[in-house]
Amino acid sequence: MKIFLTGASGFVGAAVAEAAHRRGHHVVGVVGRTATAVAGLAQQITLDLAVPHAVTSVLLENFPDVIVNCAAVSEPALCDADPARSDTLNIALPTQLAQLAHHLCARFVHVSTEQVFDGMAAPYAIGDRPNPVNLYGRQKLLSERAVTAAARAFAVTVRAPLLSGNSPSGRRSLHERLFADWATGQTPRLYTDEIRQPCTAGNLAEVLVELCERTNLHGVMHWAGSEPLSRYELGCRVRAYFKLTEKSAPITAITRADTPAASPLRPANLALDLQPLVGVLKTQPESFEAQLDQLVVPPPFREWYHQQ
Ligand SMILES: NC(=O)c1ccc[n+]([C@@H]2O[C@H](COP(=O)([O-])OP(=O)(O)OC[C@H]3O[C@@H](n4cnc5c(N)ncnc54)[C@H](OP(=O)(O)O)[C@@H]3O)[C@@H](O)[C@H]2O)c1
Repeated sequence: MKIFLTGASGFVGAAVAEAAHRRGHHVVGVVGRTATAVAGLAQQITLDLAVPHAVTSVLLENFPDVIVNCAAVSEPALCDADPARSDTLNIALPTQLAQLAHHLCARFVHVSTEQVFDGMAAPYAIGDRPNPVNLYGRQKLLSERAVTAAARAFAVTVRAPLLSGNSPSGRRSLHERLFADWATGQTPRLYTDEIRQPCTAGNLAEVLVELCERTNLHGVMHWAGSEPLSRYELGCRVRAYFKLTEKSAPITAITRADTPAASPLRPANLALDLQPLVGVLKTQPESFEAQLDQLVVPPPFREWYHQQ
């Protein structure tokens, strides 16, 4: 089938391009500022997705079977830094894509976040009441509602967790951020009481491509890895996996009480209940050990790593 993929150059989008290509789909991918070729794309289009008439024309020209939306301003701090831009990418764009999907009778697969929840009542099931504590979470929740309203019969939205894996830039994922700190002499401060249930971008991509094919599944769904862990545990497991020492790769354990100004904007526990997706998909959630086994030393920090 012909898949129109936005955010093809991003962490999740690049993994979707590869997974969809591997499964025999024809993928037309949109990139923004990225100038390099994205693996798996049959066609790569450079487009500013913040320009609605350009989005409409390129979709009408391509007439895809499926639209997968991986474009976003995907970090809370970046949303706060430019609320107008993040509103456009995180709310207006998915709303427009869902309306176009309805118009084209195309499947629409959208990605949201566990950050629609406040973190006070985990594990969260799909029917639990969202209550975002930051702008990013509010924007993604509005996108979920707009997508469902515009394309109820065509759309599925997946709330994804913190992502592990190897990103195109080597600076985006959980272990890559730790390497960036260590390589520049910084000590990451990781919460012992902030719980996340990560999965790899590759595993999430398999789910998203499976959902392109499983057109009978609709609504808002949850996906994650199989293990909720504190950020501190995640950091220590990464350090041990790469056989780094506490001296060369220090981590400071902190609690939410240590950061009274920041903590109210950071959900405490975002463990997810993965039903019903986990019961109906071929793709299965991965343990953190299985995720670690897929990690490579991030290319920007290879020289530092070999000196350790
Ligand atoms: N990363 C995570 O831990 C995580 C966790 C949960 C959910 N999610 C969700 O997963 C989805 C994908 O996130 P991600 O981490 O893959 O994001 P990302 O790595 O930051 O990628 C964002 C993508 O959006 C594109 N983009 C942004 N503005 C654009 C514009 N004006 N025109 C065209 N393209 C534009 C970027 O293109 P260029 O780079 O080429 O400009 C890039 O391909 C998002 O919906 C996010 O909310 C992510």
